[in-house]
Amino acid sequence: MATIDSVLQENRVFPPPADAVARATISGMAAYEALCKEAETDYSGFWGRLAREHLVWKKPFTQTLDESGAPFYKWFADGALNVSWNCLDRNLENGNADKVALIFEADDGKVSKVTFRELHALVCKFANGLKSRGVKKGDRVLIYMPMSVEGVAAMQACARIGATHSVVFGGFSAKSVQERVVDAGATAIITADEQCRGGKNIGLKVVVDEAFSLGGCEAVHSVIVYQRTGNAINMAAGRDVWLHDLIKDQAATCEPEWVEAEHPLFLLYTSGSTGKPKGVQHSSAGYLLHAILTNKWTFDLKGDDTFWCTADIGWVTGHTYIAYGPLACGVTQIVFEGVPTYPDTGRFWRMIQDHKVSVFYTAPTAIRSLIKASENAPATHPRNYKLDSLRILGSVGEPINPEAWMWYHDNVGGGRCPIMDTFWQTETGGHVITPLPGVTPLVPGSCTLPFPGIQAAIVDETGNDVEWGKGGFLVIKRPWPSMIRTIWGDPERFQKSYFPTDLGGKLYLAGDGAVRDAKTGYFTIMGRIDDVLNVSGHRMGTMEIESALVSCTELVAEAAVVGRPDDLTGEAICAFVVLKRARPTGDEAKKIVKQLQDWVAKEIGPIAKPKDIRFGDNLPKTRSGKIMRRLLRALAKGEEITQDVSTLENPAILDQLKQSV
Ligand code: WTA
Repeated sequence: MATIDSVLQENRVFPPPADAVARATISGMAAYEALCKEAETDYSGFWGRLAREHLVWKKPFTQTLDESGAPFYKWFADGALNVSWNCLDRNLENGNADKVALIFEADDGKVSKVTFRELHALVCKFANGLKSRGVKKGDRVLIYMPMSVEGVAAMQACARIGATHSVVFGGFSAKSVQERVVDAGATAIITADEQCRGGKNIGLKVVVDEAFSLGGCEAVHSVIVYQRTGNAINMAAGRDVWLHDLIKDQAATCEPEWVEAEHPLFLLYTSGSTGKPKGVQHSSAGYLLHAILTNKWTFDLKGDDTFWCTADIGWVTGHTYIAYGPLACGVTQIVFEGVPTYPDTGRFWRMIQDHKVSVFYTAPTAIRSLIKASENAPATHPRNYKLDSLRILGSVGEPINPEAWMWYHDNVGGGRCPIMDTFWQTETGGHVITPLPGVTPLVPGSCTLPFPGIQAAIVDETGNDVEWGKGGFLVIKRPWPSMIRTIWGDPERFQKSYFPTDLGGKLYLAGDGAVRDAKTGYFTIMGRIDDVLNVSGHRMGTMEIESALVSCTELVAEAAVVGRPDDLTGEAICAFVVLKRARPTGDEAKKIVKQLQDWVAKEIGPIAKPKDIRFGDNLPKTRSGKIMRRLLRALAKGEEITQDVSTLENPAILDQLKQSV
């Protein structure tokens, strides 16, 4: 693990810049430690105080944490509020009405701005429109939208009427849409005719149509279609309705549905180690509280900031750091439709310059690809842009290697801006281990210290703490407000995956390995301990990809998928495949590789395409028939096999599997 070695040898330390210390809400290590101390001495008092200070309640709560049904924890359970009210109406009341909420930059560079008042009106009309179609509190609404003002408004409109949304990333296939409609029991879908990315139009409605044709979506009574490009699409009479028609005659106000704190705000499907993607269920109040706190403390968002999180609303980052948190904090933010490489690889830097972005949050994969791009096209190097509006940078989704960290720090941040390497997960709702800009001395490659109130620790396989300097399982010892509540429809899987009895049943198991620095106690994430891959910051289960491959029944007899380190994407997907026909070679092998990649793209989405596919007459198995994955991982990396292969049923096939097509 080259990254880990270089982190362990890392001795560059970057103290918080003086201006960040002066400006930050949480300023100085003593302030951070005081918060941690407060949480330690009076855990529910700490969270209760914050929930009263940062959320607006319709009905105040009396009990902060209810542990009686552990690990199905409840927070602020007898309180009532509305998330959309907290994000929008609150800003109309506190003087932000005419402030720009969203600066939308389209793929083609066209910019439009929406104030809080305008967004509020759009969301209210949208919410009234949903109601007019019979959507009500507790219904599930699937959202399959491009990055757009309307996409954010769709989420907010659901929140306003108490419908639980499930956003599906626009790059997922019809089959993925269909599976999520069925699993969530969705009764309405919000989509667009097409999306525009990198100068191309990509159909969305057509994918939804295909999802219907796969069956099982009969409960969906309404498909609401945002007209993005205006190209021809099918509209099913009665079922499908244009968004502009739906909202045309709706009132611009909508009394929110006051929901109980635990009411499910959203489901978001993510990959686990086994089976199909799981619907991570989040609450309303606890989730929003952490969204607000992390936006305020990690990014120090204040009234005059312009924030830009480059994630898509299809991922959890786009929920917490676009659709909810920044709005509730009343800051102006960028919503970007396009890709970082179009019309050229200076797009991000030009946008930061044009919109005077002050806080910028992106993924290591994007940084790494732009490093490479700016070497090939020096005119798009960040030094050619005026980036002095920036004051804080963020990184999310995967480990950031120290080299990429330094480049980001020096070239984008001009050596001035601290980098918040935020560790968190779909399940945690928001940052759980992260530096704070006015507090934490930074070490490239380390996500540093827990967010105040989060009891992160590293334990061994029996759940006991390991000493600093030793690796182990990353856990969180106490429940926190924005934690996953359950897996939709599968509470047993929730309990088994996150609160395993091996560890005593009380610790939240993140699924990552980690180590704390022997001196500073800083955390470094060492990657997943399960069969989950992280490709360009996207989470993917090896089992999902294997099932997709073997579902190509005419070709594939057996498949095993592993990850291997990749300079650009962090990890790359490597598939070992046994075909139903003789092992192909040469051009024929190349043709079948392409065929299988396209198949996986169709089954799951292009992000799940294996980069490397290798064919063998068989897979390496023990005599009892178990696939030796460790061996496959070594083969994928191109390592010499030094392990004992004497237990292997068929050692001869290792040579076949050494070669990529
Ligand atoms: C990984 C994304 C190292 C980790 C917000 C985690 C990270 C998974 C970091 C969750 C980071 C996320 N450093 N690894 N700063 N942030 N990860 O659910 O393996 O898409 O378990 O949430 O991404 O991915 P998810």
